[in-house]
Formats: sequence, C-alpha cells, structure tokens
Amino acid sequence: MIKVFAPASVANIGCGYDTMGFAVTEIGEEIQVTKRPDDKLVINEIVGADLSYNPEQNVATIAIQSLLDALRTTQGFDISIHKFFKPGSGLGSSASSAAGAVFAVNELLNRPFKREELLQFALEGEAFASSSYHADNVAPSLLGGVQVIRSYNPLDVFRVEMKSKLEVLLIFPDVEVKTAESKKLLPTNISMQTARNQWGNVAGLIHAFHIGDNKLLRSSIMDLIAEPVRKSAIPKYEEVKRIVLQHGSVGFNISGSGPSMFALFDLDGDIEQSIDDISGLYQDCDFDCKIYRSKIDLVGCKVIS
Ligand code: HSE
Repeated sequence: MIKVFAPASVANIGCGYDTMGFAVTEIGEEIQVTKRPDDKLVINEIVGADLSYNPEQNVATIAIQSLLDALRTTQGFDISIHKFFKPGSGLGSSASSAAGAVFAVNELLNRPFKREELLQFALEGEAFASSSYHADNVAPSLLGGVQVIRSYNPLDVFRVEMKSKLEVLLIFPDVEVKTAESKKLLPTNISMQTARNQWGNVAGLIHAFHIGDNKLLRSSIMDLIAEPVRKSAIPKYEEVKRIVLQHGSVGFNISGSGPSMFALFDLDGDIEQSIDDISGLYQDCDFDCKIYRSKIDLVGCKVIS
C-alpha cells in the first residue's frame, strides 16, 4: 500500500495559456493505492468530490491504465481518492488525480519509469477530463515548481529555476467553470499585434521569475487572450484584482480556466489586508468564497505513507 500527496496547481500564470503552470503547497489531494491479486482497477472511495467510480470514466484510473498498457502488465489496483479542493475550481483537480495516481502506481511497481516519463500517462487522464491535451496542470502537479510546456509534439517540458520568493493567494468564489466549456470561449484567431504583445509578456514573465524581478513580473503577467473573454464568468473579478494590486500584489490573474484567481506577493505586499478585504467583498454580497494562502510547491507528488 502507498499513499501520496498530489498538489493543486495554477495553470497559464496569466499570459502563458496552456504552456505554463506552478504547483502550490497548501492544497491538493491524497491518493492511496494497493496492489490487488487480480487484474482489476477498482476505485473504493472518493472523498470530497462527486466523481465517477467507473474506471473508464475516472481520470485517475484512465491515467493508471495508460501506464499499465505501456508496461504491458495487467496488475490490478485498489484506489482511494481524498480531495481537499473542488473539481471545476480552476486549481487543477483532474490533473492532481492523474499525476498522483500514476506517481503512486509507479512507486508501488518499483519505479519502472522516471518521474518525467510519467507525464505522458497523467496527460491521458487529464485529456479525458477536459477534452484537450493540456499539460500546464499535470506537469507542475507531478514535477513541482514552475513548469513550461515548450512543445506538445513532441512533449517537451522544462522547469524555471526561480530566484523570486513569493507567496500565493488563491481565491475561489464557489461557482463551477468547466475547462472544456471555458476553452470554447477563446478566440481561434488573434492579430499579429496581440501575438507580439503576448510573446513579449511570456518572455518577461519567465525572465522575471528567473532573476527575481517582481516589477517585471507584475507588468508581464498580463494576458491579452484568455483573461478578456473568461473574466466575466468570475464573480467580482475586477474588484478582487483592484484589491490585491492596491495592496502590492506582484501579479494577479485567473488560475487556469477559473473561477479561482491567484495573486502573487513578495514581502512588500500586504497579504493579510488583501484577505480581509476580499472576504468582506464576498460577504457583503452573500457569496461563498474560499481563500488559501500558500507557497509555490517545489516538489510535486510525494509519498506520505
Ligand atoms: N490551460 C488550461 C486552460 C488550464 O486555460 O484552459 C485549465 O485548468
């Protein structure tokens, strides 16, 4: 038996639609996996979410099956999933299930694959959940840190070494946004001018993380493609943005496809006052909102027992 923790993650990081994300320390899910004497994949328990127990309809078992197929083995497993955050929150719930599941099985089988090689299997689970191959949640959840998907075909992922020491505020107003639906809102064509500005921001963001330039981070995180069409699905988006920027956040945007938002803070920002003001904002309109304070996770999936 093995139990692992798979962190939640923030995809896109503003300007990097489908190409970058980071994992967080304070939220995630636990997955317990045990070998069975037969060839079945059986989900025994799912706590914290209303998800399918059918192994052909659950991201964790789809990802495990993809790993087992690559190994040409028919070993069966019992699986229990305990989620500490909601699916549809924009914090990479399906990705943490997929990453945690393949990581756990690989450990139980005495690591036939390197950790980086597990990404392709986790991606199969994620693709089922969101109807698209996007690795900007699975890569950080599995590998930790800030991960960039430089190419999808072939899959090529690298980690950004960071000088910045940042805290992350995650704000989750309790509405569900389905990634597959939210992807349909995006433009299929963009102008050369928009593309040019976005490329500048992506380069600025990576450089800012790398050298710890938080002034550059704040200006580069801006997104000209997804944020303009997605923000209207997020209650009080502009108000939250105004609050965190007023209190010195060095970067704010939508987490993945939303509705969660993230704000990055260095030591000069007032994270406590931001939390108070955002809580007050949602209380005033009787809206349920969860706020998490976290660090960027540098480890990815890990064995907890
Ligand atoms: N990159 C994906 C999107 C992340 O923005 O649709 C989904 O969490």
